[in-house]
Amino acid sequence: MTTRGITRRQLLLATGGAALLSQVPIGLALGHSRDGAKAPAFIEDLIAKMTLQEKAGQLTLFGAAMQNGAAAAANPVTSTGAVSAQIAAAKAGQLTGVFNSSNVLYHERLQKAAMQGRLKIPMIFAADVIHGFTTVFPVPLGESASFEPELARRTARAAGMEASSVGIDWTFAPMVDIARDARWGRGVEGSGEDVLLGKRMADARVRGFQGERGLADPEAVVACPKHFCAYGAAEGGLDYNTTDVSERVLRQTYFPPFQSGFDAGAMTTMASFNEISGIPATGNKWLLDDVLRGEWDFRGVVVSDYTGDEELIAHGYARDGRDATRLAILAGVDMSMQSGLYLKYLPELVESGEVPMEVVDRSVRRVLQLKAQLGLFDDPFRRIKPQAPSRQRLPDTLALAREAARKSVVLLKNEGDVLPLRASGQRIALIGPLAQDWDSTKGPWTLFGGDDSASDLATGLKQAMADASQLSVTAGCGYEKALDGGVDDAVQAAKAADVVVMAIGESRDDSGEARSRTSITVPQVQLDLLAAVAATGKPVVVVLSNGRALALADLLPNAKAVLVSWYLGSSSGLGLADVLFGAHGPSGRLPVSFPREAGQVPYYYDHKITGRPDPHPEKLTAFKTRYMTSPNAALFPFGFGLTYGQIEYGALDLGDARLAADGTLTVRATVHNRGSRDAEEVVQLYLHDRAASITRPKQELKDFKKVAIAAGASVQVEFSLRRSDLLFVGQDLKPTVEPGTFDLWVAPSAEVDGLHATFELLA
Ligand code: NOJ
Repeated sequence: MTTRGITRRQLLLATGGAALLSQVPIGLALGHSRDGAKAPAFIEDLIAKMTLQEKAGQLTLFGAAMQNGAAAAANPVTSTGAVSAQIAAAKAGQLTGVFNSSNVLYHERLQKAAMQGRLKIPMIFAADVIHGFTTVFPVPLGESASFEPELARRTARAAGMEASSVGIDWTFAPMVDIARDARWGRGVEGSGEDVLLGKRMADARVRGFQGERGLADPEAVVACPKHFCAYGAAEGGLDYNTTDVSERVLRQTYFPPFQSGFDAGAMTTMASFNEISGIPATGNKWLLDDVLRGEWDFRGVVVSDYTGDEELIAHGYARDGRDATRLAILAGVDMSMQSGLYLKYLPELVESGEVPMEVVDRSVRRVLQLKAQLGLFDDPFRRIKPQAPSRQRLPDTLALAREAARKSVVLLKNEGDVLPLRASGQRIALIGPLAQDWDSTKGPWTLFGGDDSASDLATGLKQAMADASQLSVTAGCGYEKALDGGVDDAVQAAKAADVVVMAIGESRDDSGEARSRTSITVPQVQLDLLAAVAATGKPVVVVLSNGRALALADLLPNAKAVLVSWYLGSSSGLGLADVLFGAHGPSGRLPVSFPREAGQVPYYYDHKITGRPDPHPEKLTAFKTRYMTSPNAALFPFGFGLTYGQIEYGALDLGDARLAADGTLTVRATVHNRGSRDAEEVVQLYLHDRAASITRPKQELKDFKKVAIAAGASVQVEFSLRRSDLLFVGQDLKPTVEPGTFDLWVAPSAEVDGLHATFELLA
C-alpha cells in the first residue's frame, strides 16, 4: 500500500480516525456480515443446536499433539494431551483446531474425527508461519530493510502457499508490533521502529498470506496481525513486561500497523501478553471491544496468546481461572489458546449468568464465520491433500528467497571501496562463527524450514568464486566462547589471504521471544577475534548476523566494510555473495536506528525535540538534551544504507510551497549517481510540523521510493503530499491537522539534512 490511491477511510483509519467515519464498514465491503448480526442460516442453525460444552469447544485451541522439535520448543511446555485424546476431543466437538503441526496426515486424522462428530464442524489448523515455511525467507526485520513492501507480499504469498499445502489455514503472522528498544528480542519478528514502514509492511504481508482470490482459496491462509497491542513497548525491552502507553501514543504509533492489516482484510488478531497502563490486553474491553470492534468495525476473531487468559491471574488482574475466563471473554477474546480455561469454565459461567449466552454465541459465530470464509464448511479437506503433488517449494521459491536475501542486506561502511570483492584473483579468508552455520541463517522463528537446499556464507562464496580453492574457512571462535588456538588459526588464515570476510554477530538464539538482552553489542570474544585479524593489516569486511539494532562503535575501527545481514534464510549465502561480489549492489536501509550505545535505548529517530534540543551533537553543550557521554543521535540512523554508487541529492522543487486544504503539494527531488556502478536508492521524505497543539516528532517519514539509478545518471523522484498526510492525534484524541509551517526533507536517511525546504499548510 502506498499513501497514494487509498481511500479517505483508510487514511483516517490509519491515523486512528475511525470514530469520525460513518461510511461503509470494512467488513461489509469485504463481504462479511456485520458483527453481532445473524450469520448465514446454516451457522445460526448450528449455534442453535450446539450444547454449551460444544460452544466452549469451538472457542478452544490447543497446540498440536504432533509437533516437530522446533515447533514444540517455541512455547513453554504445557501439556497438549496425547494424540488419541486430541482426536477424541475433535470428534466430541471439544476442540476448534490445533496449531503448529506441519503434518498433513495428522491434520487429516483430526479433520476426519471432526467429521464423525455430532455436528461435523470442521477444525481449523494454525501455525506460526512467520517468514517462510519450507523455504525460509529473511527474518521480517531484515526483509523490512528492503523498503520493498511488494517483496514482503511475494514472500508471504509463497509462505502461505507452502503452508496451506499441508493443511494450514491460519498463520499467526504478521507480527506488526512497532519496536523501539533494541534490547527487546522480538523486534526481529516485525518491521522495526517506524509507523509508515510498519503500515506498508503489515498491509503487504496480510495481502500476501491471504492471496488475491479470497480466503476460501485453498492456497490462502488467513492472517493474524499480532500482538494487539503495544507489546513492543515493554518497559526496559524486557519481554512480557509492563507497558504504560498513553492513548495518544497507542493511536499515533502502535495502532496504525494493525489498522493497515485489517484494512487489507486480516480476519484475526491475537491479544498481546502485556498489560497496558494497568489493564492486560487479554482482559482489556476498551481495546478489544470499544476500539477494535466498535471504532474499527473489525469482524474477525480475536485469539488469546499462548495461555494469555490464564496469565491474567499472574498479572494480578484475575482471582483464578474461572475469573480469568470471565474477564477474557467479556473483554472480547473469542478464542482461548492453550490454557483450556474456556472449555473448563465457560459453561458454568453461562449457567450462573456471569457470562451472557449472547457473548458466547457471538464469539462462536465469529469462529464459525471464519471457518466458513476459509471454505472449510464446503470442503473441510480443501487444504489437506496428502495425495496431491506437493505445492511446497515451487521452482521459483528459492530464487525468491535469494532475491529477498540480497535485498535485505544493508551496507553501513565501505572504506576505500573494499567492496565489491573480485570473484577471481583474490584470496579470501572467511572467518568467524557464522561462516559455516546454516542453522543460524534461519533466525529465531523458523519452526518448519528444511535445510536441504540452504546456503550458508561459505557455500555462497564458493559458488560465486571462479576458483573455490582461493577460499579458506576458519571459525576462529564460538559465539560467546574462545576456541583453543582459534585466534591463531584465524590470524594465519588472514595473513595468507588478500581480503578477510568476517562472519560475526549474534546467534539465532540471541533474539526472538523471551530473548531480551541488556547488551546490544557483538560478543566480546568475537570483537577480540576481529581485532586480532584486523591487526594483520588485511582489509576486513564484516558480515553481521543480528536480530536487533546493534551498537557498533567498538567494531567499526577494525572493519573496512560492514554489511548487516540479519538472518537471511534459505538462500542466505547466495544472496550475500550476490552483494559481496557486486552482481547486485546493496539496496537495503536500516528499519531501526543503530544507537551509539545500549544506554540510549529505547532510541528511535522520530523522537520529540524537547525544550532544550542539542544544537551540536558532536560536542558537549551543557544543559541540553544529550548524555554526558553521548549525543542524543544514532550512530547509523533509521533509513541509512550505502550503495556501490555515489549518491548525491541535487535540487528540490516544491513549486509555490503552499498546500491548500483540498490540494496536493508536489515535491520533486533530483538524485544523482556520480559513481561508476549502478545503484538503488531509497529516497525518503520526512516532515516536521513546527508548531502544533500537540508537540510533534523531530521528523516523521511520510513516503519513500526505491529507485534504480544507473552509473552516472540522475533521476527525478516525485512525491505528492496531501493534507491527510499531515494528520496527527490531537488533544481530543481524534485525527487533527493544523495549518502552519512544515519542514520537509528529501534525504537518504533520517537525521541527515539531505534536501531541506519548508512549506505552508493553508487553512
Ligand atoms: C507465543 C507468541 O507470543 C505468539 O507470537 C505465538 O503465535 C504463540 N506463542 C503460538 O506459538
